[in-house]
Amino acid sequence: MRKTVLFYLNGKRQEVGPEHAGLMLSDYLRYERGLVGTKVVCAEGDCGACSVLRLRPMASSKNLPQAARNIYLPINSCITTVAQMDGSSLVTVEALASQTAGLTPVQQAMVSSHGSQCGFCTPGFVMALTGLVEKKLCDGVKKGARCTPREAKNCLTGNLCRCTGYQPIIDAAVAIDLSKCASVKDQFYSLAQERELKKVLKDPVKFQNEHFSFFAPTTLKDAAAFLRRQPDARLIGAATDLGVVHNKGKIRLSKLLSLHLIPELYDVKKLSPTRMTVGSRVTLSELRHFLKDKIPEFAKFLDLFASPQIKNLATLSGNVSNGSPIADTPPFLLIAQATIIVAGPRGKRSIPIEKFYLGYRKTALKPGEFISAIEFDLPKKTESLALYKVSQRKDLDISGVNAAFRITWSDAKKTKIREVRIALGGVGPTTLRLPRTEAALKGLTLKSDPNSMRLNEVVEILHSEMQPLSDLRGTSAFRRVLVENLFLKFFREQGVLQ
Ligand SMILES: Cc1cc2nc3c(=O)[nH]c(=O)nc-3n(C[C@H](O)[C@H](O)[C@H](O)COP(=O)(O)OP(=O)(O)OC[C@H]3O[C@@H](n4cnc5c(N)ncnc54)[C@H](O)[C@@H]3O)c2cc1C
Ligand code: FES
Ligand code: FES
Repeated sequence: MRKTVLFYLNGKRQEVGPEHAGLMLSDYLRYERGLVGTKVVCAEGDCGACSVLRLRPMASSKNLPQAARNIYLPINSCITTVAQMDGSSLVTVEALASQTAGLTPVQQAMVSSHGSQCGFCTPGFVMALTGLVEKKLCDGVKKGARCTPREAKNCLTGNLCRCTGYQPIIDAAVAIDLSKCASVKDQFYSLAQERELKKVLKDPVKFQNEHFSFFAPTTLKDAAAFLRRQPDARLIGAATDLGVVHNKGKIRLSKLLSLHLIPELYDVKKLSPTRMTVGSRVTLSELRHFLKDKIPEFAKFLDLFASPQIKNLATLSGNVSNGSPIADTPPFLLIAQATIIVAGPRGKRSIPIEKFYLGYRKTALKPGEFISAIEFDLPKKTESLALYKVSQRKDLDISGVNAAFRITWSDAKKTKIREVRIALGGVGPTTLRLPRTEAALKGLTLKSDPNSMRLNEVVEILHSEMQPLSDLRGTSAFRRVLVENLFLKFFREQGVLQ
């Protein structure tokens, strides 16, 4: 049993015990290691000023493409604890330039393109762009290769700048000659490091002092037994939710159980041609990679989920367990007939997602239970699937309303509905399925019904099945209009309304 967590920081070995393991990583870097290049602005995962690069050799489901595993990816250090870095290799902004004769090509491009004014956000932008460059290098680059403006914008959705404006930063990103960039992995990661990290990751970790305790077992059984014995312990996924609440002072992350040493939880794979499973330690970025060709609609939808720095940490299981009625993945999981695989003191059991949410932020998990995996359908190409998110701004925002639609057609021409599944978030205490609306649509042949009277009738039923609340993100009436429009948009996108 280990009494410390182990990680590498800028190529140097770090062993940390209870004294500092409960700190947010950004505080540890700044106040314990003097690495003040990592900035903290929002402490909520929203601005990217605290971005650092992280590689975790444990995350190695063989079913993921090379570009998704064993590479340095940007993460937010303000909402993740030091304890969670166990088994990782980290690189901060200070190390980039010190390893080369001068500035790196990314840093030089920021200077040359006037991408920095007050400079407070700049380390975060440099780390996010370095992460993009690393990914491109991993894919292989030709002489003189450049990032596209679109790639730059997508990689920077998690970074905010108050004074420079974004165009000079995009210009800087596009100006970087990728073939002149050195790989972070080549500079900061070695075989010896990998060997040591992989070896220690086989040992459980347990330590505590009067302020902080941390347990990371290597088996589901030990995790369940611990949770059962210690009901006040908090199971931590990636802490992208929990870290924010902790930083706001609403909870204290002082007694933690982490599942990061349980190898089977990193698995993501197809169970059959029409069904797949995602372990509870798989990040949303990894899931997106895996699903890119299998469910492009969901992969694309995940582009609207948070930012790269969040998705490189956050898990599907965390999003589902959180139980928020506006969480973005449950609508898809509902229409994909997901099953929540739960591990507990008596072994595993399966809960259909329809039965998982018992009320506002209340789930069917019993004491000692947690999610080990989530299984769901891979919709057939002959089905129609659409996922929508409406928020105040496109990127890095919380949904006002989200929706998922899936039609199984009776005919190859996609005119007659055999079955339809609809799920909505933001219109009730939990994400809702709409059984009466679905029943009313069943069997309809929409193309031969051009005036869509039936569809208008169905819209009436749709309204009767939801009870949207009014809050900061929109009034009840606004949400009703949104849902109706999304419903009609979906059917128009199928080309069935005239
Ligand atoms: C800036 C920012 C943007 C965000 N944007 C979005 C967004 O666009 N859409 C969206 O839906 N969410 C968003 N979120 C919320 C959050 O990122 C997601 O809910 C994420 O998926 C949570 O996963 P996690 O692993 O970090 O969970 P954690 O924060 O670790 O845990 C969340 C909850 O789930 C529980 N939990 C975690 N893993 C398990 C498990 N295996 N079994 C049982 N319980 C478990 C924890 O105990 C906790 O109660 C955002 C958060 C931030 C900070
Ligand atoms: S300080 Fe803003 S994301 Fe971390
Ligand atoms: S340069 Fe000042 S906040 Fe970006």
